[in-house]
Amino acid sequence: MNQPVNVTVTGAAGQIGYALLFRIASGQLLGPDTPVRLRLLEIPQGVKAAEGTAMELHDCAFPLLSGIDIFDDANAAFDGANVGLLVGARPRTAGMERGDLLEANGGIFGPQGKAINDNAASDIRVLVVGNPANTNALIAQRHAPDVPAERFTAMTRLDHNRALSQLAQKTGTPVSQIENLTIWGNHSATQYPDVFHATIGGRPATELVDEAWLDGEFIPTVAKRGAAIIDARGASSAASAANAAIDHVHDWVNGTGSSWTSAAIPSDGSYGVPEGIISSFPVRSVDGRWEIVQGLEVNDFSRQRIDASVAELVGERDAVQELGLI
Ligand code: NAI
Repeated sequence: MNQPVNVTVTGAAGQIGYALLFRIASGQLLGPDTPVRLRLLEIPQGVKAAEGTAMELHDCAFPLLSGIDIFDDANAAFDGANVGLLVGARPRTAGMERGDLLEANGGIFGPQGKAINDNAASDIRVLVVGNPANTNALIAQRHAPDVPAERFTAMTRLDHNRALSQLAQKTGTPVSQIENLTIWGNHSATQYPDVFHATIGGRPATELVDEAWLDGEFIPTVAKRGAAIIDARGASSAASAANAAIDHVHDWVNGTGSSWTSAAIPSDGSYGVPEGIISSFPVRSVDGRWEIVQGLEVNDFSRQRIDASVAELVGERDAVQELGLI
């Protein structure tokens, strides 16, 4: 049995937290040989609810759960953290402009980035789930100059999984038969789910679906899925978001299989995405590091849509720069 890994989860008393913590504690995040010690961060008003969740976690008697600590202080919560799941964020409320939203989240992710810089273990890996996830990850990263930049990532795996499922349903194929799908850009309505390199049961996806379906149904359905779930469920997607967070970190630590996946990671300039912004790419995890899949041909249909989403990310970066948040 390995040594316990410290997993810090922010927003632990929220909806995603409730769907996520039990799966981490059961071993689904890091695998069946790795015990975990949970470190939960909440705002003071959320601590009591987090304590309730901790009681339930204890009551599951998970063999891999070696401890739970609850904090309302980021420095303490990230002390010794090997994995940081940054879920808690300030949601957009009625009448809130983009600048207000970015500023409110800068007030969360800047200090958390610094707390990671000052306290986390040297192998810390960070996944930002709280929205606007890509730019929150950038803010945290810029406050952690001593941590290698590529350790800060944002979640587009839910979009990836949603796209897989839509393509599977459309073509009547199990998701396990679909490979090499990509989400590009921002985790927002501008994201671009790209099937031009995907295969379905070994055949190019483009033999089974046409551009009219991609443009008219597939892309908008994937991009607006979050809103459709709120409409149907009366609450936002939590279990599927938690599932995607598990997938992201699991693959990051354990490696991807033959297919690639999607994750928002700092750009190295590949595919014309400006260096430094945290954008979704086709990625593989090799030896515990995300690598951007290189050499893919990008057609005009894709180029336009990648550029639009990347332009939004550049706009967010410029806005947080102007606000002095990075
Ligand atoms: P929620 O509102 O149920 O829970 C958020 C929790 O975060 C609350 O318990 C709150 O007290 C806590 N929190 C707020 N500020 C905090 C801080 N500074 N430190 C620690 N905890 C703090 O929200 P839910 O449904 O769990 O969603 C969390 C975030 O995930 C939202 O920003 C949501 O937009 C985002 N999200 C991202 C997805 C993605 O694909 N990247 C998918 C779905 C949701």
